[in-house]
Amino acid sequence: LENGLARTPPMGFNNWNSTGCRADFNEAMVKGIADIFVSRGLKDAGYQYVNLDDCWAKTSRDSSGNLVPDPVRFPNGIKALADYIHGKGLKIGIYTSAGTKTCNTAGFPGGLGHEQQDANLFASWGIDYLKYDNCNNQGVDAQQRYKAMRDALARTGRPIVYSICEWGRTDPKVWTWGAPVGNLWRTTGDISDNWGSMIGKAQANRALAQYAGPGHWNDPDMLEVGNGGMTATEYRTHFSLWAIMAAPLLIGSDLRKVNADTFTILENRDVIAIDQDPLGRQGTVVSSSSGKVVYSKVLENGDRAVALSNETTSTQTISTTAAAIGLGGGASYTLKDLWSKQVRTVSSTISASVPAHGTVLYRVTRSGSMTRYEAESALISAGV
Ligand code: DGJ
Repeated sequence: LENGLARTPPMGFNNWNSTGCRADFNEAMVKGIADIFVSRGLKDAGYQYVNLDDCWAKTSRDSSGNLVPDPVRFPNGIKALADYIHGKGLKIGIYTSAGTKTCNTAGFPGGLGHEQQDANLFASWGIDYLKYDNCNNQGVDAQQRYKAMRDALARTGRPIVYSICEWGRTDPKVWTWGAPVGNLWRTTGDISDNWGSMIGKAQANRALAQYAGPGHWNDPDMLEVGNGGMTATEYRTHFSLWAIMAAPLLIGSDLRKVNADTFTILENRDVIAIDQDPLGRQGTVVSSSSGKVVYSKVLENGDRAVALSNETTSTQTISTTAAAIGLGGGASYTLKDLWSKQVRTVSSTISASVPAHGTVLYRVTRSGSMTRYEAESALISAGV
């Protein structure tokens, strides 16, 4: 959506993967996350949006038809919370559904038929981001429902990132119509905190690179890093793949409770820079054979990010070449391993021994001389 927002994939937090609808999703939690964004350097690393998911509202609208914050979870309301978050230099997101009710069985009211009233209320609170879910949609056409809220948000005059939470289940698929409608759209069902779920989302999302770009991103769902169901190796793979796929980086763990490994992963600035590269290309699969998968992402300065990803349960040697990633013709190549930080120079083969469920992520720079033809080709393939 060309609303000037999300020129790089959104970065921030959403409570759903850690709390679901539990009572510990409340004002204290949300403020605590905002505090940690500032105190632990996440804000400086680029994390900006602190987003509320389902279950923030009461089950009924008020007598004017407005949504009402749950007075137990949010005793001071959402406006006060927005002020607090804005006071830290961060932004706040909220959630509702493009249906008569949200997804939770408690029956919270949805936005269908209330688009302008709800958009106006969100804007009056200072909301900066809306995730718009797909439950209880009454069979109304998805494009019609999602465009109605896009237009309502635009009429508020407030810049609000618009996240389409349709899961790619209905035809035509959301990625084929999402670019002029939303800033991001889900490409999968809900992630859960285990290897099989996470890698399944990556496998589905990596086929959709052609649809992503600045202002309009594929969303394979939020991060599980730190929730405890995967090993540190698997969480590094999760974060590496989301970065090379230019996916939104929405932290889904309760940062008040996570271990030091979690911060090390989430704060890896070299990996974040791959996700946030201003050219805005989603990486593509260069080769995939027997669970050994090579991804490559063109970066603005002509470098490539290369992920050597091992989906098998034993150590594998995974290899590609400079030519295969569109960087042929150099005298040599510098590989920076973005997790170990080691730098080495190779002549053309890009290879590593990768542990089970691990991913080696390189930034590859061509050194040595290029012909003028090669230099121009590199610029054209980078779209500049
Ligand atoms: C379904 C969405 O896909 C999830 O991300 C979450 O928002 C839940 N609904 C909330 O009910």
